[in-house]
Amino acid sequence: MLARLVELIPSEITRRLGKALFSIPLPPCRAEARWRVGPVETNGPVGIAAGLDKEGLYTRALSAFCPGFIVVGSTTARRREGNKPPLTARLKPRSLVNAMGLPNPGLPVVLARVSEVDYPIFVSIAGFTAGELLAQIRYVERHGHNVRAIEVNLSSPTYKGAWDRAAPLLNSKKPLFIKVGPTSDLRAYLDLARKGGHGLVLTNTLPVDDRRIGVGRGGISGLWLYPLMMKMLEKARSYLGRDTPIIAVGGIMSCRQVKAVMRLADAVEVLTGVLYYGPGLVGRLNACAVQIAEDGR
Ligand SMILES: Cc1cc2nc3c(=O)[nH]c(=O)nc-3n(C[C@H](O)[C@H](O)[C@H](O)COP(=O)(O)O)c2cc1C
Repeated sequence: MLARLVELIPSEITRRLGKALFSIPLPPCRAEARWRVGPVETNGPVGIAAGLDKEGLYTRALSAFCPGFIVVGSTTARRREGNKPPLTARLKPRSLVNAMGLPNPGLPVVLARVSEVDYPIFVSIAGFTAGELLAQIRYVERHGHNVRAIEVNLSSPTYKGAWDRAAPLLNSKKPLFIKVGPTSDLRAYLDLARKGGHGLVLTNTLPVDDRRIGVGRGGISGLWLYPLMMKMLEKARSYLGRDTPIIAVGGIMSCRQVKAVMRLADAVEVLTGVLYYGPGLVGRLNACAVQIAEDGR
């Protein structure tokens, strides 16, 4: 019902309403669940994906809705303006096309904003060169005392380029998760994750041309992405076995989907579902995933 109503409102308006809602100071969630995503301890398996809290302005408010963890960013080394609007457009059922262009105030500002937030935080970093990514990894190691893991966004539709050569250079004292897109060379990234001892995030948005978007193209998220993500997840798990932690993200919006995904994944992230059903969705899915795990023991 809520999602149907939301589908009638232009996505640019709901995006701005969401910003206002997440700025309200809310009491923090009293999380009880403990979960492990590879080496990282979280408050449950279902977290908020990169892109909802790009600037670290809503992290505290989002923690009130009891997600397992929150991914902040993606950041770049320095401030970035992003694209000209319109930045988003709807696609039925429950999907979106977006081309934000990685707007953010730069990693140092974002880290300073979240430094007092007492909740499991991952930082997602993006960059246009391997050097920009490595500089941010070192910065998080030095200044991100409350950051539990780093997601490396190697698959933003904004890049327009392949990352296969830069990725082998990545290393960190913090746990690293490599975010792979649906058009990436999956096998190459699976080998890389295994060799480097990194985790994986599957997947990012699917690049498409769309004249409703200011820059004429963007990435599809939401239900449209779900079958693609599931195929990637199945391939990755059967190739890697159980040793590599995998986070699944792409069109997950129901407890039934969480149940299907958690047979193969170590954790789940959600973004478009939050835009259609509100931030309470992620807490509900997190509680449902914890229950499924307890029932299975
Ligand atoms: C508005 C919007 C902004 C996004 N920004 C980022 C980003 O900055 N970094 C990133 O790695 N992924 C970003 N994503 C991709 C999401 O994290 C996620 O991988 C993708 O949307 C699929 O999940 P979903 O169907 O639950 O939205 C963004 C997605 C949307 C819809």
